[in-house]
Amino acid sequence: MSARIAPSILSADFGKLYEEIQMINDSQADWFHVDVMDGVFVPNISFGFPVMKPLKASAKKTLDVHLMIVDPDRYTAAFAEAGAHILTVHYEACTHLHRSLNNIKNHGMQAGVALNPHTPVSLLKDILPLCDLVCLMSVNPGFGGQSFIENTYTKIRELKSMIKECGSNTLIEIDGGVTLANAKALTDAGADVLVAGNTVFGSANPIQTIAELKSITA
Ligand code: DX5
Ligand code: ZN
Repeated sequence: MSARIAPSILSADFGKLYEEIQMINDSQADWFHVDVMDGVFVPNISFGFPVMKPLKASAKKTLDVHLMIVDPDRYTAAFAEAGAHILTVHYEACTHLHRSLNNIKNHGMQAGVALNPHTPVSLLKDILPLCDLVCLMSVNPGFGGQSFIENTYTKIRELKSMIKECGSNTLIEIDGGVTLANAKALTDAGADVLVAGNTVFGSANPIQTIAELKSITA
């Protein structure tokens, strides 16, 4: 089975957002990856509910929302209402992660945890059964178009064996610097979902690039 491909809307042309959404709908992409940044947890501000609205109205695929914000619990209910299917919070932003994940599930969404590049996967040992998804940041969060951090491969392998050991169905998502050149190696190491911003939206033919990401990882 090929990797799930999740184009990151952060790299889309917001002047033609509706067309970009239709393009992803028409492509082989599996999910929409939606990066929400608050300018506090990360040194950049992206977008929030005004962008969730057209996505909820027009996107025909899973909305995978990645919150790069402090104190994300404040917005769990609002993102459920806004149409998020998967809500991912940062390990580094949650003092009571167990409570945060339960809260997300109680609002009918799947719960994800994202780890910054410096955060070891071993810290998830006692929370893994609650994680529908673990998002390994393979760049420092905040911006699209950065280069991939190679240590991510080691983290994928370690996380994969932790998941096997605990018997959970947790998906491993890789976020940042995914390209046509590293997609296969990431999948071979154990990644289930590949986020791609610049690789998809910076390409001359995004539909074709998404198809290539699917076939490379098959
Ligand atoms: C980074 C975001 C990523 C980003 C990926 O903070 O979480 O999802 O959009 O973009 P690329 O694929 O261009 O590195
Ligand atoms: Zn992201």
